[in-house]
Amino acid sequence: MEYKHIPVLLDETIEGLQIKPDGIYLDGTLGGGGHSEKILEKLQSGRLIANDLDAAAIENAKNRLQKHLDKITFVHDNFMNVLQFLDDNGIAELDGVLLDLGVSSYQIDTPERGFSYNKEARLDMRMNPEQSLSAYEVVNQYAEEDLARVFFEYGEERYSKKIASKIVDRRREKPIETTTELAELVAYCYPPKDRFAFGNPAKRVFQAIRIEVNGELDGLYEFIYDIALRLKKGGRMCVITFHSLEDRIVKKAFVELNKDCVCDKRIPVCTCGKRKEAEIITKKPICGKTEDADNKRAESAKLRIIERV
Ligand SMILES: C[S@@+](CC[C@H](N)C(=O)[O-])C[C@H]1O[C@@H](n2cnc3c(N)ncnc32)[C@H](O)[C@@H]1O
Repeated sequence: MEYKHIPVLLDETIEGLQIKPDGIYLDGTLGGGGHSEKILEKLQSGRLIANDLDAAAIENAKNRLQKHLDKITFVHDNFMNVLQFLDDNGIAELDGVLLDLGVSSYQIDTPERGFSYNKEARLDMRMNPEQSLSAYEVVNQYAEEDLARVFFEYGEERYSKKIASKIVDRRREKPIETTTELAELVAYCYPPKDRFAFGNPAKRVFQAIRIEVNGELDGLYEFIYDIALRLKKGGRMCVITFHSLEDRIVKKAFVELNKDCVCDKRIPVCTCGKRKEAEIITKKPICGKTEDADNKRAESAKLRIIERV
């Protein structure tokens, strides 16, 4: 299947990164390589570390970014492990970092990856198909209270308990095998008047399972904080999120990086040692354009930018 993904907030992100031709940049979420390509066009002697959990993204990018291969280091890993990669390769500082979080359109649109509630496939949702935990295990093996917690915390799903209970009932007869089986079961947990009132009723449960399978929020705050500290003075970090759970974490990490001494004002000498590490460039996030009919994902996109001080 062709690798299709329209980059979101492309101009805003590239402008936000303020790319230096000799800089070292990290794209932690290579995906279709749309953002990476624009970064590479601005690099001369610089380098791009292009990272993705999904081997399909790396393979596609090797082809798409052919004319820039001498400036790219591909890394097939979770971006959470990139600090180790930087240490192992003697890279002390970066000029810029981009994270465009979540899944790519390619992943959603490839039925056999099992991300989409609209396309019949075995439940899967692994960004890295080499990982053992998939949506199948979550749906068929998690205890009822854990399912309810996942749906509530990661999907903000108001019928989380009812859906978890229905899943466990159904599992007693036979395992839930496919995306559409799960989507139908979720729809029947909604009262008929609400069933399609806010888009597909399975949307939130699918988002929740995807976040759980890929551990998308685990360690994200710490990673954003730590990778920001690896930026050179004046270096920029751009993070694009697609739902409020991610955006809250990014905002919190940026606010913390921006804080100076947190000692009680009545104490004359600082004892906390906290120093401002970064300036927040986007006081409010830059939002995706709702008029972009070709790219539904853009509607919920938010870009936040900081600059290392
Ligand atoms: C929204 S897409 C990126 C699109 C890309 N900016 C472009 O222009 O085509 C997100 C990509 O990040 C990858 N990804 C998500 N979480 C990741 C993680 N923790 N570590 C590495 N890659 C991750 C996904 O596999 C997916 O390919």
